[in-house]
Amino acid sequence: PVSPEFLKELPKCEHHLHLEGTLEPDLLFPLAKRNQITLPETFPQTVEELQEKYNTFEDLQDFLNYYYIGTNVLINEQDFFDLAWAYFEKVHKQGLHHAEVFYDPQSHTSRGISISTVTRGFQRACEKAELELGITSKLIMCLLRHMEPRECLETIESAKEFIEDGTISGLGLDSAERPFPPNLFIECYERAREIKSDLNLTAHAGEEGTAQYVTDSLDLLNAGRIDHGINSIHDEELIQRLANEKIMLTVCPLSNVKLQVVKSVSELPLQEFLDNNVPFSLNSDDPAYFGGYILDNYLQVAKDFPHWDYNVWARIAKFGIEGSWCEAKRKNEL
Ligand code: HPA
Ligand code: ZN
Repeated sequence: PVSPEFLKELPKCEHHLHLEGTLEPDLLFPLAKRNQITLPETFPQTVEELQEKYNTFEDLQDFLNYYYIGTNVLINEQDFFDLAWAYFEKVHKQGLHHAEVFYDPQSHTSRGISISTVTRGFQRACEKAELELGITSKLIMCLLRHMEPRECLETIESAKEFIEDGTISGLGLDSAERPFPPNLFIECYERAREIKSDLNLTAHAGEEGTAQYVTDSLDLLNAGRIDHGINSIHDEELIQRLANEKIMLTVCPLSNVKLQVVKSVSELPLQEFLDNNVPFSLNSDDPAYFGGYILDNYLQVAKDFPHWDYNVWARIAKFGIEGSWCEAKRKNEL
């Protein structure tokens, strides 16, 4: 097996990170206090109780219920800045060089917070991270698939200026995967591409959903990469297509274990992806909830795939760079 030191130094890129999922309990409670937000009575009342809950999610929906409550403590532009900046500071120490990060505008606009407040707070943290830490980044707005597609269209309209000026670099789709298949969002993806023809597109698919969700995200939404995507392994034809078209899967090992998608990281079809030349990257998803940031995910995979040597890891790092949405010049630096 490779050394932890090697994995730390390996130039890493992250492509599947929800900024709201970096909200640690020790920031959540102080923010609730600062913003005078009353958490539901059934919500754990201490950092310890909340951490305890995070170890026992039953599935994606159980996690999402807590995740959306946590999100409610974020109110002011400074809160969004603080949240993202804390993330960048943490992963800087773990050898992260480039981050393409998600956020859910609708989790905030539905509570009366403007998309500008959220976007500018995050954007300021991204700028500071590049300036002071050398971490480049892209913001990706996600649509909540449990919301009405009509409302999602409105969200896209409200994000128009940020899409046009490049503050928002991409569009994604998250929240409960089943029973909200990709075809519900065809119009949304079309409209976003109308606003900016070269907007980067991705979608969560094949985490709890079937391989068909992955195929439909490619065919119907025009996604250029797929978030999670691990259920692609059940469709031989799809696997060949991902390899041929160089569609990267943004795999989240610790997340998949915590949400009981797999029993252990060793069950993930990563060796099969390598053998079939399917590009994938390793990511933390919602690190405050799933017990680990980017390097923790790399370390766990190295533990569960101990026969991978330096060449295999260099290949994974290269998949991540090539699958990033940054300019050719930045890819060369990475
Ligand atoms: N899947 C779906 N929605 C999400 C996730 C996820 O892993 N994380 C945050 N929102
Ligand atoms: Zn995710």
